[in-house]
Amino acid sequence: MGMTPAIDYYSNSRALVPLRSPERFARPRLVEPPKSKGERVQTHDGRELYLRGIEPGDMAALKRQFSRLSPEDIRRRFLHSMGELPDSMALRLTHIDPALETAFVLMDETVQPAELRGVGRIFVDESANSAEFSVLVEPHWARQGLGALLMQRLVDDCRKRGLSEIWGYVLLENRPMLQLCKELGFVRRLMPDEPGTAQISLQL
Ligand SMILES: CC(C)(COP(=O)(O)OP(=O)(O)OC[C@H]1O[C@@H](n2cnc3c(N)ncnc32)[C@H](O)[C@@H]1OP(=O)(O)O)[C@@H](O)C(=O)NCCC(=O)NCCS
Repeated sequence: MGMTPAIDYYSNSRALVPLRSPERFARPRLVEPPKSKGERVQTHDGRELYLRGIEPGDMAALKRQFSRLSPEDIRRRFLHSMGELPDSMALRLTHIDPALETAFVLMDETVQPAELRGVGRIFVDESANSAEFSVLVEPHWARQGLGALLMQRLVDDCRKRGLSEIWGYVLLENRPMLQLCKELGFVRRLMPDEPGTAQISLQL
């Protein structure tokens, strides 16, 4: 008598019974828009690639591309021999500072995982209002207009940034690159301190 029955939360009061249905966890879902692969481009022989800015997730693809290059390609791109692309360098090349760098990649999405077939980049020197470029297209994709495409995009990017010059070092033996740059209007300057190397530049 006089005892207040203990409240049986689980049978007497629906409001107090913990919900077991999926509603309990239902929250407005944020659906991310599908990530763009980039701009679709075509090689002279009709193969398809996607042009986009480099991303941190491209590090493994960059390393795989390096392993497909000939020693000559590597020397022409980096101006010295390198047996492998160290992780620290691959990390640095894929984690760019957009305020001072632009890097475009050409991705082959017809294979899994997607492979990087070309890359072009600039590094801005604010004090000189100019940018140094580098470009690379892997051998099986060469002579397809991709080097010219990457260079043109880098020139456009430098113009957008309001820079007055784009320049780079090229080995004098690197006829393909010297020819490509000549066609884009670059001029060549020999470097007395670096025999075998030219500095090529374009005033913007
Ligand atoms: C140099 C390099 C970027 C050229 O790339 P690519 O995609 O083959 O170049 P493209 O197909 O856009 O060629 C554009 C023009 O360059 C010239 N060119 C390219 N390759 C050439 C070659 N092997 N011989 C002569 N001219 C060549 C041609 O005038 C060509 O126009 P065309 O094909 O209508 O005649 C590429 O060979 C490469 O990555 N080399 C190794 C790295 C390197 O040297 N980087 C440059 C220093 S940073």
